[in-house]
Amino acid sequence: MSETEALFETQGVSRVYRSGRGAQIEALHDVSLTIPRGAFVVLRGPSGSGKTTLLALLAALDHPTKGTVRFDGQDLQRASEAERSRIRRRLGIVFQQARMLRGLPLWENVTYPLIPQGVGGPERAEIATKLLEGVGIVGRQRARPEELSGGELQRVGIARALAAQPEAVLADEPTSDLDPESAEAVIALLKGIHAAGRTVVAASHDPLLQELATHTFRLRAGRLQI
Ligand SMILES: Nc1ncnc2c1ncn2[C@@H]1O[C@H](COP(=O)(O)OP(=O)(O)OP(=O)(O)O)[C@@H](O)[C@H]1O
Ligand SMILES: [Mg+2]
Repeated sequence: MSETEALFETQGVSRVYRSGRGAQIEALHDVSLTIPRGAFVVLRGPSGSGKTTLLALLAALDHPTKGTVRFDGQDLQRASEAERSRIRRRLGIVFQQARMLRGLPLWENVTYPLIPQGVGGPERAEIATKLLEGVGIVGRQRARPEELSGGELQRVGIARALAAQPEAVLADEPTSDLDPESAEAVIALLKGIHAAGRTVVAASHDPLLQELATHTFRLRAGRLQI
């Protein structure tokens, strides 16, 4: 495996959203980029420039209107829904607002991605405790998501993204809603993930996160800046 092997690759990717009355918004226009395995990518660009749209395409959560997205050499457009979901299981996705299943204890939320692998409850509970400790949340395995603060939830979201030991973590503005201390904790986690050899792709304007970047991509009105 060479160091420059592409983990993600987009070629000529456009994404057009159609809203009411036939209006169209081209959220991405002709975006071609390569993300090598092991990179720490920071995706920058003003609000509305297409960062979240691009992350969703890389995460196989959305389809481009034009162009190709490849993960580990596989063309996501040609992949079946089953293959796309297998690919998603190789990724840890951190949304801007951690979406948790309400009413379900944290340990269940965090290890939800392990259920398809057939990992049983007691083992998942143990794994969850470790993952939660790793993000600085101790003794709250049985708490429900609605009992946590926004910063705590963001960290739980990262713990969940790591549960299945993903090859890459895609994070959408993981520190934007956090106080400086929580933001630092999240950045330290992402740094650890990268140090462990995983690929990190984060949409962020955080200068502390930027310091970790091996590659920076800038979007402006859906176009990649060079
Ligand atoms: N589901 C949608 N339907 C219609 N337009 C959309 C949709 N999602 C995004 N857009 C539009 O696409 C463009 C890019 O949006 P996107 O969310 O990717 O931007 P962003 O760079 O993530 O912005 P922010 O920094 O505010 O999160 C924006 O003009 C947005 O209004
Ligand atoms: Mg966004």
